[in-house]
Amino acid sequence: MFAIDGNRLNRRLAEFAEIGALPKGGVNRQALTEGDRQARRMLAGLALARGFRVFQDPMANLFIRRSGRDETLAPLMIGSHLDSQPAGGRYDGALGTLSAFEVLESLEDAGTQTDRPVEVVAWTNEEGCRFAPGCMGSMAFAAGAIPEEWADKQAADGASFPQELAATIESLPEAEMRPLGFPVYSYIEIHIEQGPSLEAENIPIGVVTGIQGTRWLEVTVTGQTAHAGTTGLSYRRDPMRALSAALSGLYDTIMPEDENARFTVGRLRLSPGSVNAIPEDIRCTVDIRHPDPDSLDALEAKITAAFSKEAGRQGCTAAIRRLFDMAPCTFDAGLQDRIEEAASSLQMPSKRMLSGAFHDALFANRIAPAAMIFVPCRDGLSHNEAEFVEPAHATAGCRVMMQAVRTLTAS
Ligand code: GLV
Ligand code: MN
Ligand code: MN
Ligand code: MN
Repeated sequence: MFAIDGNRLNRRLAEFAEIGALPKGGVNRQALTEGDRQARRMLAGLALARGFRVFQDPMANLFIRRSGRDETLAPLMIGSHLDSQPAGGRYDGALGTLSAFEVLESLEDAGTQTDRPVEVVAWTNEEGCRFAPGCMGSMAFAAGAIPEEWADKQAADGASFPQELAATIESLPEAEMRPLGFPVYSYIEIHIEQGPSLEAENIPIGVVTGIQGTRWLEVTVTGQTAHAGTTGLSYRRDPMRALSAALSGLYDTIMPEDENARFTVGRLRLSPGSVNAIPEDIRCTVDIRHPDPDSLDALEAKITAAFSKEAGRQGCTAAIRRLFDMAPCTFDAGLQDRIEEAASSLQMPSKRMLSGAFHDALFANRIAPAAMIFVPCRDGLSHNEAEFVEPAHATAGCRVMMQAVRTLTAS
């Protein structure tokens, strides 16, 4: 039996939730903002106080290393992210990062020597809501390079990605710099389920089998801005009319016809955005998810056809650009077994399940065996300030992680 301190973990979750705190209990700690930097500084400070080495790479991924008996062996990596949605919950990302740090501290408390180093990671910009795409830190780490086109990225507030990245790295001068990407032995991430099934079935641990595919599109429908009071129907080229007709058809078919499909429009911008002018253009994002890559292709084709048709009917044009394409992944079978065994050795019921949300583990899985542990969240709610995890469930997930870490690092 390898102990972790559940009270310390839950206290830390509350302390980190004060950074970027929102009135309804959630957090706004979007990637590379001051809140994100503050959370990184707090974690690094805790790590340095315990004598761990702290590193960051050119993507501002933050690593905390506890040495192993053989320092030449690739580290076992555990972690998640500290950035949040604009109105996010306090557990999405923080739970996995702070659980991983709790494992590291508990190994230290017990004076346990592991055969290989164990590293905690807090990946940069998992959410992708300020700078798309999501999982930028883990994606670049797995590729060993930062894509050149990221140099031009801008947030909706006009902030430049390279400038914000550099300022974030500079805000943590205590961290040693290291190159992007290095060999990893295995990767394990704890996360809240962000869906209802564990809670509904009263199962404390999800052994994640893989992650469904995600595609993000940006749709621009362009018409002609004109006077709201004087422009009769036959003179209008109204992109709102085209967009609303296309969306109405897509909402009525995509999810009703396929229970595995997900279709979300989360961001909408009208220009010029005046109460008494027909818009010139409208831009919206579309987030589609499906476990089957061919179905994602079919969904994208359907969406493209719907916007083109409705734009044509209104004398408008539609342009569609892919912002992000994340193929589904399957996690390492042996590592899934280890997590299932760890739960069962602690007498905790578990079930295998696919992740509906994407996670950094998808990219870690490209360079090392990876797996995830899910814990229940109340009413399946996430990307919402009301997100809540029972302290006992947070503790249970961390105990399973510790058990898995010990079996993977025994010499
Ligand atoms: C990431 O948070 C996602 O949208 O799945
Ligand atoms: Mn997350
Ligand atoms: Mn999230
Ligand atoms: Mn996520």
